[in-house]
Amino acid sequence: MVKICCIGAGYVGGPTMAVIALNCPSIEVVVVDISVTRISAWNSDQLPIYEPGLNEVVKQCKGRNLFFSTDVEKHVSEADIIFVSVNTPTKTRGLGAGKAADLTYWESAARMIADVSKSNKIVVEKSTVPVKTAEAIERILTHNSKGIKYQILSNPEFLAEGTAIQDLFKPDRVLIGGRETPDGLKAIQALKDVYAHWVPEDRIITTNLWSAELSKLAANAFLAQRISSVNAMSALCEATGADVSQVSHAVGKDSRIGPKFLNASVGFGGSCFQKDILNLVYICECNGLAEVANYWKQVIKVNDYQKNRFVNRVVSSMFNTVSGKKIGIMGFAFKKDTGDTRETPAIDVCKGLLGDKARLSIYDPQVTADQIQRDLTMNKFDWDHPIHLQPMSPTGVKQVSIAWDAYEASKDAHALCILTEWDEFKTLDYRRIFDNMQKPAFVFDGRNVVNVEMLRDIGFIVYSIGKPLDPWLKNMPAVA
Ligand code: UDX
Ligand code: ADP
Repeated sequence: MVKICCIGAGYVGGPTMAVIALNCPSIEVVVVDISVTRISAWNSDQLPIYEPGLNEVVKQCKGRNLFFSTDVEKHVSEADIIFVSVNTPTKTRGLGAGKAADLTYWESAARMIADVSKSNKIVVEKSTVPVKTAEAIERILTHNSKGIKYQILSNPEFLAEGTAIQDLFKPDRVLIGGRETPDGLKAIQALKDVYAHWVPEDRIITTNLWSAELSKLAANAFLAQRISSVNAMSALCEATGADVSQVSHAVGKDSRIGPKFLNASVGFGGSCFQKDILNLVYICECNGLAEVANYWKQVIKVNDYQKNRFVNRVVSSMFNTVSGKKIGIMGFAFKKDTGDTRETPAIDVCKGLLGDKARLSIYDPQVTADQIQRDLTMNKFDWDHPIHLQPMSPTGVKQVSIAWDAYEASKDAHALCILTEWDEFKTLDYRRIFDNMQKPAFVFDGRNVVNVEMLRDIGFIVYSIGKPLDPWLKNMPAVA
């Protein structure tokens, strides 16, 4: 029986291994992690991450051929194929601070593999930030090999949170990079055989190591660039009276452009986009490609601009001050159908409003109060460490309270800010919300989920990203 071990039981490792176990009953899959609480949660009925469809998959194979354990060394030493999916934070000091990936966790995982292995291994890089990681890991392993042969593969993950299970079941493509040597090709084939249990062969692409890694950075950079492009358009739409949804629709009808990923928003978030682009920029700079680096940097700058623009719009519309005013925050996760808050635009927007002394009442259907407080007190870049190493937030932010539902968050509020596109925000009883709010009552929709006309009829002053402005807002222009 082939044995797979995955180091790192997070958003990538957990769902990916569950889907492999479900589709490959003949393979034993063990997911290991240094975090005891995370592994305990995987072994309970309350999984540590919220992902539609994940529960059902895990239930079917947990205890059969899918296991979760903290006994990292035992399972690594027994495995034939080791996936590594550990944190890759952005460096906060030293060379490349603020841009380059910190490979501390990767390196310690690689050294541990070298220490405990007694048989040949295929080591698969599946971390979020590939930056020639495979090559670095290959060096560590081969210099500590004790006669054991290692083959390193890069198998970047393209799943998007919220749709991870369907992305894993029906991937657009599976990408496997490896060495073009006889042993390298054998290792590629071994991993191909795993995916071939359910992925059609023509969707499994094989490349050399660095092409696979760079493809992941490139794909995320292209996707993020689309959002920054449409967000840049949204600012122009507001200034000129066009409607960004109409523009996106018309642009997306061009089959060369396509309709997906053209929704204007308060900004993109998530653990990948910003981090991957920062690494792309760093790699370009290290290779003397300043113009290319600046080109990609702009994608992040526009994203930051969009978040600032939103905060400025809120403050300027409300008589240039939100000091002491209650603002209901609807949604904190970086997108709907996930409880993940990594790099969520809500953090920057909330911090911006708190900077102007607002009182916030935050509601999100999946994010815990503890996580929100932690996010609002943590320093930039500190989020991407194993949870037990992250700073705790003993006091929390005083002006922030966490609400059980949207109605509680909006009670007596001066304004609502919709920051995540949860479906339930489309069907709230906005009449009831309006009646319980201070007047004038404002709605700032950062995800274009509400029916603007209906809300204006109720009496709200409504701002919706990239839509023709409310007459009220026209008289109070926001500068970014
Ligand atoms: C992304 C990539 O899609 C995935 O392939 C990769 O493996 C990991 O990074 P993820 O970050 O989980 O996945 O979610 P994604 O759906 O890409 O959304 C990222 C951010 O962009 C979210 O904040 C989302 O709200 C925002 N977004 C997305 C928009 O603002 N507009 C859009 O049209 C699409
Ligand atoms: P991703 O989105 O890439 O899955 P996560 O942060 O959700 O990222 O998961 C990474 C996981 O890796 C964390 O649960 C962390 O505890 C774990 N981890 C980090 N370093 C090690 C290590 N050396 N050995 C085992 N697990 C590790």
